[in-house]
Amino acid sequence: MSEYFYISTAISYTNGSPHIGHAYEVIAADAIARFKRLDGYNVFFLTGTDEHGLKVQQKAKSLDLEPQVYVDKVSKEFRRLTKYLNCSNNDFIRTTEKRHFRNVHSLWKKLLENGDIYLDQYSGWYSIVDEAFYNDDEIIKSENNVMISPNGNTVEWINEQSYFFRLSKYQNKLIDFYEKNEDFILPKSRMNEIKNFVESGLKDISISRKNINWGIPVEENTEHSIYVWLDALTNYISALDWDKNSELFQNFWPANIHVIGKDISRFHAVFWPAFLFSAGIDTPKMIFSHGFLLNKGEKMSKSIGNTVDPFEMVKMYGVDQLRFYLLSSTPFGKDGNYSHELIKNHSNAMLSNDLGNLSQRCLKLVYTKCEERTPIKGIFNKEDIDLINKTYDLYPKCVNLMNDYQIHSYINEVFNIVSDANKYFSEQKPWKLDLDRMYTVLWVTCEVLRVISIMLQPIITESASKLLDSLAINLSERSFKNCNKNYELKSGVKITEPEAIFPRI
Ligand code: MSP
Repeated sequence: MSEYFYISTAISYTNGSPHIGHAYEVIAADAIARFKRLDGYNVFFLTGTDEHGLKVQQKAKSLDLEPQVYVDKVSKEFRRLTKYLNCSNNDFIRTTEKRHFRNVHSLWKKLLENGDIYLDQYSGWYSIVDEAFYNDDEIIKSENNVMISPNGNTVEWINEQSYFFRLSKYQNKLIDFYEKNEDFILPKSRMNEIKNFVESGLKDISISRKNINWGIPVEENTEHSIYVWLDALTNYISALDWDKNSELFQNFWPANIHVIGKDISRFHAVFWPAFLFSAGIDTPKMIFSHGFLLNKGEKMSKSIGNTVDPFEMVKMYGVDQLRFYLLSSTPFGKDGNYSHELIKNHSNAMLSNDLGNLSQRCLKLVYTKCEERTPIKGIFNKEDIDLINKTYDLYPKCVNLMNDYQIHSYINEVFNIVSDANKYFSEQKPWKLDLDRMYTVLWVTCEVLRVISIMLQPIITESASKLLDSLAINLSERSFKNCNKNYELKSGVKITEPEAIFPRI
C-alpha cells in the first residue's frame, strides 16, 4: 500500500485575475505533487479560490456585479489557469461552496464548545487589502499622514462588536510545538520570525466582522460574518470532508505541506495551528513559505501596472518554458526575478541548447543510422561506464533534494548530467565511429535521455513525455522506480522520426 501525501497551495483571492505570482505557487506545488506520485505516493493536491471578504465585495460593487456572479467568473479563470499550466490538482475548492460552509460552521462550533470564542468589543485597525486586523504599534503614519499597515496598505479604524478567539491561551503551546517541530516552517529563517512574533506575546484575535454581507454568517448571530481568514484556512480540511470524518480525511490529514507565500506565513504558522489545537485536530506537518516573484526587482502590483498575465506568458513562451524558468531560476524559498530577457535567455540556454541539442543530435542519428530502432549496445569503455553510473546515481541524489523541497537544486543535478552527456557525445563523435561503437555510444546517450526525461516529468511535463515517447518508453515504465539498470533501454524497438522539442525563443 502506498503512503499518502497531501499538498495544498494557498487559495487565491478572487478580487482580480490571476497573475504570475499565483502561477508560480501552483506550478511549484504541482512539481512536488508530480514528483511524489512518480515516487510511489498516493497524492492529494489541492488548490482553489478564497472568495469572501470586504476586498472581494468591494471589487464586485465597483463593477456593478452581484458578488456571487463576480466570483463565479474570477474563480473560473483561476481554475482555467491550473489546466493551462498543466497542473495535476485532484480538487479545486471554492469557499462559496456548501461543503466549505458546512466545515467552517463545524469548526466554529468546536472552538466555541472548547470555550475559545467570546463576544466583546473590537477597537483597532483593519486593512481591507490585507484582510487583517492590526494593533496600534503595527501601524505606520505615511508622509502624507495616512495610516498604513506593515504591508503598506491603508487601514481604517474600527470600533464594533466582534467575536474573539483566545489565541493568547495557545502562546506557550505554540512555542513548545515549534521547539519540538523545528521544520514546521521552512525555510528556517521564517521559523525565527514566527517564533519571535509568538514569544513577543499573543493577544486574542477578532474573528468576525459586523454588517458585512459577503461572508459566512455566524450561525447563532447572523449580524456577524466569520473573519475571512478563519473561513479561508478551513479550506484545507473542507476539501477532505473533515466534518463527515470521511475516508479522505482519515487518509490524507494531517497535510504534509501547505505551500504558501511569505506574506501569509503568520496566518498559517500561528493562527491555523492554534485553531486546530482548539478543535482537537492534528496540525499540518509543514508550512513551506516561498519567496515572491518580482518584476525586474520590483514588487508586482496593480497600481504600479507591472503585473504579468500568466496566460499571455504561456502563449509567448510555452508552458514548459514558463514552468522551467519559474522552478529553476530561483531557489525555492527565496525571492525570484522575472523579465522577458531572463526567461528567453534561460530557456534558450538550458532547454534549446543543452537538452534540446543533446536529444536532437542523438535521436536523429539513431533514426537514420539504426534503421529507425533503438540502438544495440556493445561493450562499454570507461567513459560509457562513468556516464551511466552517474545517471543511475541521479535518482537517489534527487530524492533527498526534493524531500527537502529544493526544486532548483534538483533541476541543477539533472542538468549536470545533461551537460556531461553533451560533452560525452561531442567527444565520442558517434557519427565518425564504426557501427558497433556508434551503436554503443548512441545507446548510452539514449539511456541517459531516458533517465533524465523520467526525472524531468514533474518540471517540464509535456516535453518530458514527448522525449519518452520518442524513445518508445512504455507508459508503465516512467516512474522513478524505473530510473535504474533493471529497466534499461530496450534495443531494437521501433521509434518515430524525432521532432525538435525545444524551439528557440
Ligand atoms: N487568500 C489568501 C490566502 C488564503 S490561504 C488559506 C491570499 N490570496 S492571494 O491571492 O493574495 O495570494 C495567493 C498566494 O499567492 C499566496 O500564497 C501569496 O503569497 C502568493 N503570491 C501573491 N503574489 C505573489 C508574488 N508576486 N510572487 C509569489 N507569490 C505570490 O493571500
